[in-house]
Amino acid sequence: MVTLLLAFRLSPLLLLLLAGPAIVTAGDLDAAVPPDTEAAALLRLKATLSDPANALEAWSPSSPSAPCNDTHPWPRVQCYNGGLIGLRLSHLNLSGEFDFAALSRLPGLHSINLMRNNFSGPLPASLATVRSLRALYLSSNAFTGPVPGEVFHTMSWLKKLYLDNNDFSGVLPADAIAGAPRLLELHLDHNRIEGPVPSKLPATLRRFNVSYNHLSGVLPEAVAVRFNESAFAGNPGLCGAPGSDPGACAMAEFVLMSNVAGEFGLPELMKASAEVLGNGNLGSAYKAAMRNGVTVAVKRMRDMNRVGRVEFEEHLQMLGELRHPNVLSPVGYHYRKEEKLIVSEFMPRGSLLYVLHGDQSPERVVLDWPARLRIAVGVARGMAYLHEKLGIPAMRLIILVFVGSTVGF
Ligand SMILES: *[C@@H]1O[C@H](CO)[C@@H](O)[C@H](O)[C@H]1NC(C)=O
Ligand SMILES: *[C@@H]1O[C@H](CO)[C@@H](O)[C@H](O)[C@H]1NC(C)=O
Ligand SMILES: *[C@@H]1O[C@H](CO)[C@@H](O)[C@H](O)[C@H]1NC(C)=O
Ligand SMILES: *[C@@H]1O[C@H](CO)[C@@H](O)[C@H](O)[C@H]1NC(C)=O
Ligand SMILES: *[C@@H]1O[C@H](CO)[C@@H](O)[C@H](O)[C@H]1NC(C)=O
Repeated sequence: MVTLLLAFRLSPLLLLLLAGPAIVTAGDLDAAVPPDTEAAALLRLKATLSDPANALEAWSPSSPSAPCNDTHPWPRVQCYNGGLIGLRLSHLNLSGEFDFAALSRLPGLHSINLMRNNFSGPLPASLATVRSLRALYLSSNAFTGPVPGEVFHTMSWLKKLYLDNNDFSGVLPADAIAGAPRLLELHLDHNRIEGPVPSKLPATLRRFNVSYNHLSGVLPEAVAVRFNESAFAGNPGLCGAPGSDPGACAMAEFVLMSNVAGEFGLPELMKASAEVLGNGNLGSAYKAAMRNGVTVAVKRMRDMNRVGRVEFEEHLQMLGELRHPNVLSPVGYHYRKEEKLIVSEFMPRGSLLYVLHGDQSPERVVLDWPARLRIAVGVARGMAYLHEKLGIPAMRLIILVFVGSTVGF
């Protein structure tokens, strides 16, 4: 086997000159990393495939011609100026773990078409090693797992990505997609992708389709105006998409910023059993225990009708990024003009107000002065941190609200 691999790394001419098989060790093979020969790469690839119809029979070490031979090219290869530029492997019932790494040293390889095969499971990690690709067609297989973000980083030439009609799930890698430098087409329809539609898409993108998935949230206006509405159909939970559920927009108003407290949405939150933790000037705080076992603290804001969505969201995003032992970062929020909820992790010891003033019951724990001092210091540290991080001269409304229940001690 080792001998064979070496033979195909050498040019066909050199091969003819060799009287017998060269004997080398595996170490030698790795040490010399010449540009791969196309035949060697294709044979390595073929070794990983199950090909029930024997469509690739002619891909053989005993083939008398090179893959891109002028007159006798190998079947299903696409050549240009004698070099391999594409693989057309659609509609062959192929399966197995497609070894993209086998193709990673063919700098001329621009396109791979695996549409309508029998591939399943998550996309192999080796995919991102084929940096030269301009087009990747994986439609109509049974691929699972998330849409891999690395593809958009490492394949900087990628123009067309077809992942439609598979079983992809999870949330879209929004940042990676936004950063794809040359992407023209992204086809994701008929999968099981969830979460929001990214609000930033590459300026180069001409065709985008996420129809028939499990997307949710609000369809961003900037995205909606760029593409035909059929690109968003078939997502019942996507507010603003054609044919979405009438309730989708109310549900969409909940934004989960972090899953440190657990995974939940507005439906779970609305059905949670609630217990009042305290009433303050700015609103009431509740403990919400959801049926899925997640417990959170919810603040229902009062008198905030004048705070606009953008300002509200900016504050929440800033707070969401903060990490400090004396500051409890929000994990989600719900914004509507008439109702604003801020959700944070539930601290079993309760809010500052509650601890300081007690619940007036006979068994209540009375805080001694050293404990109160520790709390005050904790609050001061938290405030100082917020002050420094956010650079807000006078503590703004939302910040103050948080300090009420943020004191870890
Ligand atoms: C192409 O393949 C044919 C048939 O195998 C062979 O005779 C010819 O020499 C090959 N051409 C080149 C340029 O290798
Ligand atoms: C693929 O498999 C299906 C079902 O087994 C069969 O009907 C079809 O002919 C196969 N296609 C090829 C190209 O072998
Ligand atoms: C497709 O793959 C599955 C296993 O993943 C296998 O059972 C089935 O026979 C394959 N179908 C064809 C047409 O090769
Ligand atoms: C959107 O696409 C559908 C079919 O896919 C077509 O009938 C319709 O005319 C398109 N709308 C616009 C505004 O291009
Ligand atoms: C999006 O995909 C769906 C389903 O495959 C199709 O019906 C629709 O015409 C496509 N729309 C666009 C704009 O590509």
